[in-house]
Amino acid sequence: MAKPLLRTKLCDLFDIDYPIVLAGMGDVIRDYTVSTGKLCAAVSNAGGLGMIGGGTMSATQLRHEIRDAKKLTRKPFGVDLIFPAGPAIEGTVSEIQAKLPADLTGFIDGWYEQYKVPREKGPEVKIFDEDLAMQQWKVVVDEGIKTIALGLGTPDWIIPEAHGRGMKVMCLVGNVRQASRLAAMGADLVIAQGHEAGGHTGRIGLMSLLPAIIAAVSPVPVLAAGGIVIGSQLAAALAMGAVGVWVGTAFEATIESPVTDLGKQKLVEADEESARISKIYTGKTARTLRNPFTESWEKAGMRTLPMPYQNYLVRDFFYSLERNRPELIFVGSGQGVGLIKKIRSAQEVVDDFVQDAIDILKKRLPAEVTI
Ligand SMILES: Cc1cc2nc3c(=O)[nH]c(=O)nc-3n(C[C@H](O)[C@H](O)[C@H](O)COP(=O)(O)O)c2cc1C
Repeated sequence: MAKPLLRTKLCDLFDIDYPIVLAGMGDVIRDYTVSTGKLCAAVSNAGGLGMIGGGTMSATQLRHEIRDAKKLTRKPFGVDLIFPAGPAIEGTVSEIQAKLPADLTGFIDGWYEQYKVPREKGPEVKIFDEDLAMQQWKVVVDEGIKTIALGLGTPDWIIPEAHGRGMKVMCLVGNVRQASRLAAMGADLVIAQGHEAGGHTGRIGLMSLLPAIIAAVSPVPVLAAGGIVIGSQLAAALAMGAVGVWVGTAFEATIESPVTDLGKQKLVEADEESARISKIYTGKTARTLRNPFTESWEKAGMRTLPMPYQNYLVRDFFYSLERNRPELIFVGSGQGVGLIKKIRSAQEVVDDFVQDAIDILKKRLPAEVTI
């Protein structure tokens, strides 16, 4: 049977079949990344554009994930990176952790006792650090990657440097001011990420944000992100002028995703109220499935430390929690999580998006809207 046709400018730009991009999802607590080479390749093989969530990995692991993706697909894919705003910080993660404020570490010690969690040492990767970002960038260049996305932070040099190497650059933004600045800096594509999104997220809902960003950066193409899980949302994003969608949570709940079975089950069981925002993970607002720890932190009125210190503060506890009390574990998630009804393959997610969007654009809308 012929493949269904649903093409936009995005498909020409990246030589892909469908206007669906896997969001670059890292992980700030565990020693794996969500958008692995395997998940990335599965999305590219399904006709979308796969991305590796490179921003929270060591350079060695990033090279490994890129090589994995190369083994598993011959289709285009890219890498998402994070360039932190501040300068490099002295010391290892353990050395930085040893100097964290005693009132905050003491509060977390209480959780270890209350939940009977034995202490394990979490990842030593020094995330949100300039030196790490530069090592990752070197790997991306060495491996001949042709598409990068910048999730947090865009140093002045990077877009010209990437263009000089024949790369395309997408930039993730949460408001019009950032979008205009990055379009003026030469971004090839802007990702308008609404408040609904999983992971780090801003304050503005996608319905209001998307048209405002499209108007501000035109003719730079815009991807819609945040809470997008089903084909009607893809059709709506295209109707609003986006060239495609940038999707995280829906692919996190796939067979190819590295999330634990328990984590995936929690995604399937969640409803539209389940995904909540907290600064507890990194010091910046990030959305995950609700859990007792964010609630306890907020109830106690605890302050959060700036990035990256807050992450180094909580990371070992959450890492130990997943390994020892997996029933209490939670995962990053957008508000669209309530629309996920079962674990599918990445191919099924792409096919469902495409088929539903085509049905709506071709049949349902012409039948129900008289013009
Ligand atoms: C578990 C998880 C991890 C994420 N990690 C990153 C990251 O490392 N870099 C980044 O640019 N965005 C990250 N994001 C945000 C995604 O790029 C994307 O904007 C978001 O997933 C879109 O919303 P959705 O999850 O509702 O589809 C993450 C999102 C999730 C759910």
